[in-house]
Amino acid sequence: MKVIKSNTYSIFFLDYGFNKLKEFIIKNNYSKIFVHVDNNTKTHCLNIFYEKIKNIEFEIIISDEGEENKNLDSCIKLWTILSNKNADRKSLIINLGGGVVGDMGGFVASTYKRGIDYINIPTTLLSMVDASIGGKTGVDLNFLKNQIGTFCEPQMIVIDPIFLQTLDKKEILSGYAEIFKHSIISKNELFKKLTSNVNFSFFDLEIIKKSIIIKNSIVLIDKKELDERKALNFGHTLGHAIETNSLLKKKRLLHGFAISIGFILESYISNILLNFPRDKVEIIKKHVINYFGKTNFSSDDINDIQKLLIHDKKNSHGKVNFLLLQDLGQPLNDMQVDSFLIKEAFDYYKS
Ligand SMILES: NC(=O)c1ccc[n+]([C@@H]2O[C@H](COP(=O)([O-])OP(=O)(O)OC[C@H]3O[C@@H](n4cnc5c(N)ncnc54)[C@H](O)[C@@H]3O)[C@@H](O)[C@H]2O)c1
Repeated sequence: MKVIKSNTYSIFFLDYGFNKLKEFIIKNNYSKIFVHVDNNTKTHCLNIFYEKIKNIEFEIIISDEGEENKNLDSCIKLWTILSNKNADRKSLIINLGGGVVGDMGGFVASTYKRGIDYINIPTTLLSMVDASIGGKTGVDLNFLKNQIGTFCEPQMIVIDPIFLQTLDKKEILSGYAEIFKHSIISKNELFKKLTSNVNFSFFDLEIIKKSIIIKNSIVLIDKKELDERKALNFGHTLGHAIETNSLLKKKRLLHGFAISIGFILESYISNILLNFPRDKVEIIKKHVINYFGKTNFSSDDINDIQKLLIHDKKNSHGKVNFLLLQDLGQPLNDMQVDSFLIKEAFDYYKS
């Protein structure tokens, strides 16, 4: 399969994708093309990109790397550079990077002069299977994740695992967490494939594609996260709070590591409230701990994590809403969970 179709754009793969990108750029006659990188993707990915799209002229814009720079200050720098370089409404931004470059570059594109085109070329596993797909853009505000943002779809996405060769092992695992999540929230063979003893590679394009197809199929029925798309938040209600707590306490857990703990906690809660099969809770716990190891949580951490839940984006009318599961691929939205059950879930994680 060479292409996956989404709402207003398509996702292409490998050299076929880069050829489509060249065709698209030539056809649209952009006034200026800006390739948005961070310092790491400038070092590791830009040369590969040059090779792939020979003869297309572009200017480079650089953001500082990492979640700590996914904020409005960095956006102001980008808007200012675009303005100083006379970017107009017929300019194009190509985000060559991970989820931070993509989320921020997409947000800057969607707001600069009321919106210019952008394209995602994800260079981390997480951005290939998740962040680049679905048209959500945004930045953090005062340590709170993704508080400011837009829904704005890219013109196209090109995926090539060649970029993953220079990615740190921890970052690969962080992306794998989203692949594993996709296998839990959908009804297909992926969960079995990943959790059985079969050796699989994190770079396997077929697994990457399967994961993208699951995310894309959900986004297609619910672009603005009103209902079905909330399934993508499995593990993320507690996972995001765990991630924020780790950032605030300066012992940062990568996104994927934080949400993988969320999978265990929220599948445990799903078992108690919705009868999600206990054997699958055990399989999820074993799989996560096998790949991600175990993190220590003090009782202060657990209290602080509970307080942070109040900022979850799915909350409404002052209530914290969880996405829980009746079974694999059978999510149920807007479930309220008592704090004693959350503590119990942490006890299960620690046991
Ligand atoms: N928009 C969405 O729907 C969505 C979904 C999930 C996650 N996200 C966001 O994505 C972000 C996380 O994305 P991420 O995990 O890609 O993090 P990231 O963009 O910070 O990249 C991780 C690190 O890897 C480096 N890097 C990137 N590509 C590289 C390469 N090929 N070789 C070497 N180093 C490389 C980066 O510079 C960075 O230091 C979070 O901000 C999260 O909120 C967004």
